[in-house]
Amino acid sequence: MGSVYLKREHAVQRVEELRRELENHNFWYHVLDDPKISDGEYDSLFDELVSLEQSFPELVISTSPTQRVGAQPLAGFVSVTHARPMLSLEKCASFEELANWLRRGERYLDRNIKELTCEPKIDGVAVSIRYEAGELIQASTRGDGITGEDITQNVRTISAVPLKLRGTTVPRLVEIRGEVYIPLNDFNDFNEKARAENKKPLLNPRNGAAGSLRQLDPAVTASRPLSMYCYSVGELSDDIQVHTHREILELCREWGCRVNQRTEVVKSLAECQKFIEKVGAERASLNYDIDGIVIKVNDLESQNDLGFLARHPRWAIAFKYPATEVSTRLLDVDFQIGRTGVLTPVARLEPVHVHGVTVSNATLHNLDEIKRLGVKIGATVLIRRAGDIIPQVIKVTEPGTVDIDIPVACPVCGSQVLKDGDGVALRCINRQGCEAQVKEYISHFASRVALDITGLGERLVDLLVNEEKIKDPADIFRLTVEDISTLERMGEKSAKKLVESIETSKETTLSRFIHALGIVGVGEVTARLLADHFRTIAFLMDAAIEELEQLEDIGPIIAENIHSYFANDRNRQLISDLIDLGVCWPVQEEIEALPCQGQTWVFTGTYSGITRNDAKDRLIRLGAKVSSTVSRNTSYLLAGENPGSKLSKARTLDIPILNEVEFMEFLENCSK
Ligand code: IVH
Repeated sequence: MGSVYLKREHAVQRVEELRRELENHNFWYHVLDDPKISDGEYDSLFDELVSLEQSFPELVISTSPTQRVGAQPLAGFVSVTHARPMLSLEKCASFEELANWLRRGERYLDRNIKELTCEPKIDGVAVSIRYEAGELIQASTRGDGITGEDITQNVRTISAVPLKLRGTTVPRLVEIRGEVYIPLNDFNDFNEKARAENKKPLLNPRNGAAGSLRQLDPAVTASRPLSMYCYSVGELSDDIQVHTHREILELCREWGCRVNQRTEVVKSLAECQKFIEKVGAERASLNYDIDGIVIKVNDLESQNDLGFLARHPRWAIAFKYPATEVSTRLLDVDFQIGRTGVLTPVARLEPVHVHGVTVSNATLHNLDEIKRLGVKIGATVLIRRAGDIIPQVIKVTEPGTVDIDIPVACPVCGSQVLKDGDGVALRCINRQGCEAQVKEYISHFASRVALDITGLGERLVDLLVNEEKIKDPADIFRLTVEDISTLERMGEKSAKKLVESIETSKETTLSRFIHALGIVGVGEVTARLLADHFRTIAFLMDAAIEELEQLEDIGPIIAENIHSYFANDRNRQLISDLIDLGVCWPVQEEIEALPCQGQTWVFTGTYSGITRNDAKDRLIRLGAKVSSTVSRNTSYLLAGENPGSKLSKARTLDIPILNEVEFMEFLENCSK
């Protein structure tokens, strides 16, 4: 009896500790943008909590980090009347209109407006989240501003949304207002994977966010990479006193809600204009879509005095940037060869301006997309350009007349083209000999998101390949100043600079390196996941398909792509050449022979000389994984006082069992 009680007592404590730790890690990751542990380490804490909650179901509470998805699919959404209406904003598109708005406000108040806040206007979906006593109790869409839909189940799945507010200033009641969106790198990754797996891609990030929030099954929402920025509060209980909008945003952050870091308080129209121009210039490189800047009167008393018009407040306005989606005509379609030989249909367009850039080409992705869009030459199409994404055709608004010719030979090397197994992709079979493929591969390898070789752009890669100075990524590191300076339009000085940046690029990270390899379906996010999980390139190279498939977000097709990439001798040789030529990454990410690499440890019972967390940290640093359940894959069980059922299970499965003293000896031996 006593031991059961102790066991439960211990579980209660550990469950609380784990929840606190997971909440802290969530806060560091999402709000402060400063993660303290890897995804793998987070998962192992999470798994431990799941297992404890399974053993002690009575300890499960709705705000536990494990309870984000769990609810059953709904039959339909229920209406919610907002405690405070969710208004829209007046819009302007010039500094003159902005100045007029401010003048009108000052006249209405009969005093000067001293401070304005400027915030990026995220192009996503507005939501309102109600917290009572710090607990998330309801989330709703904006709807018509008065009544929205209850999407609590779905919003709970967004890891950037706290289920419980943190800190000492949590009010009795608060409605957090903000924008749910999909970060652009996650959007790209999601679609790249969807296309690789022959699933329907998301139309654009905003549509993707809206569609994901309107899923009846929260498990579907949970599979979408949603995030959120908070920008104001609705109802707020009077146990909290605030005087400025900025204070509200600071409180939101303190409570654990994500607030856009670019937000600034300015003291004049001139400063406001500067902010709008600065963010406008950064717009194309942000990891989220913005359609403008929201300018708000900072002082809440002035906001109150200014009040509302029918649909929007007098104290705020949206300065709209030019659209990211514009309409133009499709003149022709060419097929471009990608780094893996896939022929990508590229739309040649009547040139149009899309936020400051003339666009005359846009991607049509693949044959399926052509079919799905029903696009023909002469059609009027909607194209979209945002962030770093290549402009894409997203919709046909007026049909065209001439069918698109599908090539039967590679337009660059003339080799045969074949349809991939699923018939979506056309591929040039001349993998090693097709110049276009080599160039694309090398450009990708050197690009900002991969090895980031400053100065080695497409034009230079073109020249280097044409002049036969390079034929694979390893050759980049064999280039001499002379090789480069003799190229067209390159002098000694720029050649030296390039050699220097090639040298600098050698020090990279494992995830960049994996991404640079250009494995089909492995974008930035998946590369990071692989790096976190495998920690060394050697382990990734030898990973079994089953292990790859077990990773979250990696389906059978991508697992197969990764596996066959590393099964190819040429690719293995390339990796070894690159390492020999000096490409490297920090040791903590790749320590060749970590003593506990590949081992899985399980803990049971309580220890007197070391805390579970410390034991776990030590093991993880030695390369081991820590799991919460005993299985055939368990390497060791560390059994303390009052061990649980894991001990008998380990005995049945013949798994080596260490007591605390033996464990400390083990650690000591490992560190020798
Ligand atoms: S404030 C009464 N701030 O823009 C003021 N809105 O057209 C309410 N939005 O529905 C909005 N970023 O979804 C505000 N920093 C921001 C915003 C923002 C995006 C969206 C919001 C709203 C729409 C207004």
